[in-house]
Amino acid sequence: MAGGCPFHSRRGFMGAVGGFATALGLSRGADAVNAGGAPQAVRHSQAEPFWGVHQSGIATPPQGHVYFAAFDLHAETKAQLAQLLQRWTDASVRMMAGQPATEDSGDAEGLSPSHLTVTIGFGPGMFTQNGHDRYGLSAHRPDSLADLPTFAGDQLDPAKTGGDISVQACADDPQVAFHAVRQLAKIGRDAAHLRWTQAGFNASFAAGDTPRNLMGFKDGTQNPSMHANQPARLIRASSQPAEEDFDKVVWAGSEGPAWMQGGSYKVVRRIRIALEHWDNTEVGFQEQTVGRKKDSGAPLGAKTEFDALDLDATDKDGSLIIPENAHVRMAAATNNDGAQILRRAFSYNDGTNVIAERWPPWRQGLEYDAGLFFIAYQRDPRTGFVKIFENMAKFDALNQFTTHCGSGLFACPGGAQHGGYIGQALIEA
Ligand code: HEM
Repeated sequence: MAGGCPFHSRRGFMGAVGGFATALGLSRGADAVNAGGAPQAVRHSQAEPFWGVHQSGIATPPQGHVYFAAFDLHAETKAQLAQLLQRWTDASVRMMAGQPATEDSGDAEGLSPSHLTVTIGFGPGMFTQNGHDRYGLSAHRPDSLADLPTFAGDQLDPAKTGGDISVQACADDPQVAFHAVRQLAKIGRDAAHLRWTQAGFNASFAAGDTPRNLMGFKDGTQNPSMHANQPARLIRASSQPAEEDFDKVVWAGSEGPAWMQGGSYKVVRRIRIALEHWDNTEVGFQEQTVGRKKDSGAPLGAKTEFDALDLDATDKDGSLIIPENAHVRMAAATNNDGAQILRRAFSYNDGTNVIAERWPPWRQGLEYDAGLFFIAYQRDPRTGFVKIFENMAKFDALNQFTTHCGSGLFACPGGAQHGGYIGQALIEA
């Protein structure tokens, strides 16, 4: 086995997911298991496709976990960069099918593919670094990959910001997601070094429910095509998002370079939420802040989660029912000249930090380092995230509780066809 890996497949799988296998009508019998590995039927049912027009992990219904990594490139030549992308493609194909990567640490042995997706993105530093055209690619940098402006309230930590290339691994099992990034980091160690990472999770939702974020609100209700009123769980089971919405909002088209067609631009923001502060506020105030009901997720003044936002509705005193600075009003397309993004956010929880204030009321103790790992995909960040967030960063009521402390911008190229690799069209442009 290449790399001396002792694992040829994820053995022991039946023991790990026996309940699931039973639900599929599979037995633990020998014929349910292919030679030395997971049962084909189960493996296929939990494997997302790698090859295609688009990369996986963008339109894929959100999984329960993410492990994100941004890397600094150390490849010296374009050929080395191409080799990195080839190796990452080969390993991702294998891992998404539930197979070990070529050199594998073995810690996902026995686990199913868990809907693993791998999404690779190119940061501005791949095109130019300190004004230097590192790989002869600067002429191919898309205009849409324009550096993000500094937003009001930004407190970006350089240790959680930037990156020349990124990998977003999503899966329903956190170990499978982490495993994927760990193998890619190892395989690519000659060409790329980890710069920062972020793990995140989506509440495991009861059948058909939109997941809740750490503020306790349903998050992801109003998203392109997902407002087909299909709860996330049902979308996974039945339909893919409506392609028209995605063509308009998410997928890059002929307006940019050919190598980005079918791709999408990713903005990530590590947003800390002051949970201690939030937890000391009344539910009514929280609902005014968000603009939706906490229990049902319905817009204020409406009845159910998927009812339309009525931004003009007033109460008997003539006051707006959805307050002027409520989060959903600030973010709504109708309030932003039609700007839309695909949100694919995860909560994060990185433990606690010590605080010792040197001013009244002299607070001392521990504070959560937790919040939202916000991921947005769009056809052009200038008319997507930047357009929406510029105003929100100044006026959103949610800002009383949130601090953006990490950031990244990446061009995720289109998908690859069998035998090719992610980013090949750029390398060969
Ligand atoms: C910690 C930070 C944030 C939290 C807790 C949060 C939470 C929420 C919640 C609860 C909703 C309503 C339910 C839904 O439609 O999904 C929502 C909607 C939305 N949020 Fe955020 N959000 C955060 C940051 C952001 C940021 C930075 C943006 C940047 C553009 C954004 C854009 C949106 C959009 C576009 C909507 C849909 C608005 C609509 O059309 O109704 N959010 N968010």
